[in-house]
Amino acid sequence: MSEKPKLRIGLIGSGFMGKAHVFGFATAGKVFDLPYEIELHTLADVTPETAARAARDFGFARSTDDWRKLVADPEIDVIDITAPNALHKEMALAAIAAGKHTYCEKPLAPLAADAREMAEAAEAKGVKTQVGFNYLCNPMLGLARDMIAGGELGEIRGYRGLHAEDYMADASGPFTFRHDPAGGGALADIGSHALATAEYLLGPITEVMGDCITMIGSRPDGKGGTRKVEVDDVGRAFLRFANGAQGSIEGNWIATGRKMQHDFEVYGTRGALAFTQERFNELHFYSTADAPGRRGFRRIEAAPDHAPYGRFCVAAGHQIGFNDLKAIEVAGYLDAIAGRAPEPFNFRAGLGIQTLVETIHRSSREKRWLAVP
Ligand SMILES: NC(=O)c1ccc[n+]([C@@H]2O[C@H](COP(=O)([O-])OP(=O)(O)OC[C@H]3O[C@@H](n4cnc5c(N)ncnc54)[C@H](O)[C@@H]3O)[C@@H](O)[C@H]2O)c1
Repeated sequence: MSEKPKLRIGLIGSGFMGKAHVFGFATAGKVFDLPYEIELHTLADVTPETAARAARDFGFARSTDDWRKLVADPEIDVIDITAPNALHKEMALAAIAAGKHTYCEKPLAPLAADAREMAEAAEAKGVKTQVGFNYLCNPMLGLARDMIAGGELGEIRGYRGLHAEDYMADASGPFTFRHDPAGGGALADIGSHALATAEYLLGPITEVMGDCITMIGSRPDGKGGTRKVEVDDVGRAFLRFANGAQGSIEGNWIATGRKMQHDFEVYGTRGALAFTQERFNELHFYSTADAPGRRGFRRIEAAPDHAPYGRFCVAAGHQIGFNDLKAIEVAGYLDAIAGRAPEPFNFRAGLGIQTLVETIHRSSREKRWLAVP
């Protein structure tokens, strides 16, 4: 019998991310020495049938069509929100008010003002929070950050980041929660990942010049008509970093042919890094210390040397997968709940990304550089 205390999870939503979180909980319990035994307590979704089916498939003991029952249940320790963006604030504030630790998918809330309210509520209540910026959990991003911080690239001059996919490239695709004028758009949806990675690697972004463009002006509303789209299909920004570097990011959901191009390049005085999420178990490193005539990007493959890869696999080059990043995220969050480590990416950090997104949008509207507040 386990001697670990139980941590009971109430999951809201059972779509793409709901399932990824369940994989995360399941794997984390197998590969990390977690401070808790995870219990999948109750799952909430929009109808009793959807919730019951998902609870059965995912291994939750109970289900409900009313997420408020999770918040009110004294047995539940963590409320895990994987519902559409516009619902995050109401759900998270209710969970925090009930004293629950709150795990929420990105983007934290439609507006930075909402994200601020959520971060401040969590801090006032003393509950632990986590936002789902899972790409930051990749051991190869940890390696890149260590190489940059350790000076292996020399002084950092430039950064290029993007997150491009094509899930909105079809103009006949329906209007979804991702098109909601309050907080929707490619920059918020996936450009937020590009911004999180940029700051994870290089530190704070201080100034932005945005260019956010709507390419598909209306979409089927699902009721036989069409609905105007006001949010960006492509959001780009030039960036200035506090460390003196300059660069750019792009969030693009109409990048035909691209499925998961979460990429970056970092240029320093003594070396460079190149990474693509399409091959995310690799990091490419160029060093000016190599002899002339022998220079070129070398491919570093993920290996047990790159923690926590070795938790998943003892052999180099065998690779981890997308859902494993959620397991790493879960393990970091549980360590924070237990007081063993700081929160890896809490609501305050989520507010930082939301503020960047809004500043880029405003810069695009006003057609000028803006300092990040
Ligand atoms: N971190 C990542 O890599 C990543 C990837 C995709 C999506 N996301 C984020 O995850 C969230 C969900 O996106 P998704 O792609 O999983 O969407 P989805 O549509 O696949 O799933 C959403 C789920 O929420 C449920 N839901 C809707 N309203 C609800 C309510 N009132 N009560 C309970 N359940 C409700 C839906 O029925 C569905 O099961 C979004 O915030 C999105 O930005 C993050």
